[in-house]
Amino acid sequence: MNDMVTGVVLRGMTPADLPAVHLLEQVMFPDDAWSPQMLAEELAGQPGTRHYVVAEEPGGEIVGYAGLAAAGGQADVQTIGVRADRRGAGIGAALLTALIDEASRRNAEAVFLEVRADNPPARRLYERFGFFEVGVRKRYYQPADVDAVVMCRRLERRPVGFTRGNE
Ligand SMILES: CC(C)(COP(=O)(O)OP(=O)(O)OC[C@H]1O[C@@H](n2cnc3c(N)ncnc32)[C@H](O)[C@@H]1OP(=O)(O)O)[C@@H](O)C(=O)NCCC(=O)NCCS
Repeated sequence: MNDMVTGVVLRGMTPADLPAVHLLEQVMFPDDAWSPQMLAEELAGQPGTRHYVVAEEPGGEIVGYAGLAAAGGQADVQTIGVRADRRGAGIGAALLTALIDEASRRNAEAVFLEVRADNPPARRLYERFGFFEVGVRKRYYQPADVDAVVMCRRLERRPVGFTRGNE
């Protein structure tokens, strides 16, 4: 749980959050919003290969969410979004921090993501967090015909609970 200046807290997403999350999804990603079924399938992957968090205001309103997929030593940011009227207050940074921390806990070697080339606010956030461009999928987003920029951040592997003896 992450208590921020705004009073917003982060907590795990549950199926009860799906209607509110889907409403936000449609507003924030009008070109390619996930369906309720897709969101439910993602959540069904918890905790095995998925980790989803919501940012909740004191009154219980959800103002952002983010999700991670992790398997085989690699993690992917599946989605991240903050309601327009709450942007620029650090909520996106808090959500991304939660995903990166989870990827570390799961011992991932790297976190990958795809971002629309025409989305400077998101690209700035990722760069601030040490993500760098590793490739471009040309015209990936259709029908908008926009490139996807693939970004990656390597993670330190942090063995917990033992230290290596003299070898
Ligand atoms: C990308 C996105 C998630 C960022 O969320 P956010 O909550 O605005 O992110 P932050 O507040 O942490 O950072 C945004 C900016 O606010 C600034 N900021 C952060 N905390 C701040 C604070 N307490 N006071 C003032 N400014 C602050 C940051 O420096 C950053 O500035 P920058 O744009 O120059 O880099 C958000 O823009 C969004 O939801 N976009 C639509 C959906 C989307 O595109 N998702 C990404 C798909 S790949």
